Amino acid sequence: MNARTLPKGCFVTGTDTGVGKTRISAALLHWMALGGQIAAGFKPVAAGTSLIEGRRVNEDVRRLREASSANVTDGEVGPFQFDAACAPHIAAALEGRSIDREAILEAGRALLARSDFLVVEGVGGFCVPLGPDWDSSHIACGLALPVILVIGLRLGCLNHALLTAEAIEARHLPLAGWVVNSIDPGMAYPAQTLFTLQHELGQRQQAPCLGVVPWLGNPCPQAIAAHLNDAALRSAFGRRESGAPAAPLDLE
Ligand SMILES: Nc1ncnc2c1ncn2[C@@H]1O[C@H](COP(=O)(O)OP(=O)(O)O)[C@@H](O)[C@H]1O
Ligand SMILES: [Mg+2]
Repeated sequence: MNARTLPKGCFVTGTDTGVGKTRISAALLHWMALGGQIAAGFKPVAAGTSLIEGRRVNEDVRRLREASSANVTDGEVGPFQFDAACAPHIAAALEGRSIDREAILEAGRALLARSDFLVVEGVGGFCVPLGPDWDSSHIACGLALPVILVIGLRLGCLNHALLTAEAIEARHLPLAGWVVNSIDPGMAYPAQTLFTLQHELGQRQQAPCLGVVPWLGNPCPQAIAAHLNDAALRSAFGRRESGAPAAPLDLE
C-alpha cells in the first residue's frame, strides 16, 4: 500500500488570459473554506490596477483576497502589482521596477505557512516571461505545487490545453487536474470538445477533470463551486479539518 501526502496548495494556470483562472481560483478558495480550511489566495504578479476605495489595486488580487478564508491583505495576496494592463515584465519596466523571483517565493512560502491551503493564480498562460531568464512556470516549480489547468472553452483551446500539459510535464510538475470553463456561450460543438479533452487529458495523461463550469450570468465563487467535481477535488487535495495535520491518503 502506498501513501502520499496531500498537497498544501495548487498553482492555477490557464490556456490563455481571460479564460477564468481568477474565477476558478476564487471558487477553489470557497470550496476549501466550506470544509473549514484556512485558505489563502496568492496572485504573485498582477498587471493592471484600478482605483478601489482610494487605492490602486489589481482586480484579481482583490477577488482572491475576498475569497480567502485566511486573514490576508491585498499586499500579501499581490506582492507585485503593476498599473499598466500589459505583459507583466513590460508593466514592471514602465515603472522602473523588476519582478523579484526570490521575494515571490518567500511571500508564497510565508502564506503557505500561515494557511491550510494556498491557491496561487498564475499570470496569463503557463510560461509568461517575468524577467530575462525566468517565467511564470518557475513560480509553480519554486513552490513545488501541483498545477490545475483552466481550459477556456473556445475554438483553439484543444491545442493550447495540450501544449500547456506538455510544458507542465516538461517541468516535472504534477498536473493535478483540469477545469473546463465555458467562456463563450456561442461556441460550436462544446460536448465534442469536452469529449476530446477527456480522451487526451483524462485517459492518455491520467489527469482528472475537476469541473465543467457552464457560462453563468453571475460567475461568483459559490455558483462556480457548485460545478466543481467534489470527489475528484477531494482525491487530489482532500479537505482536512482546519489545523489537522496532512493525513496520508491511502492508495491501493
Ligand atoms: N463560467 C463563466 N461564465 C460567465 N463568465 C465567466 C465565466 N468564467 C469567467 N467569466 C468571465 O470571463 C472573464 C475572464 O475571467 P477571469 O477569471 O478574470 O479570467 P483570467 O483570470 O483567466 O484572466 C471575466 O469577465 C469573468 O467574469
Ligand atoms: Mg486572472
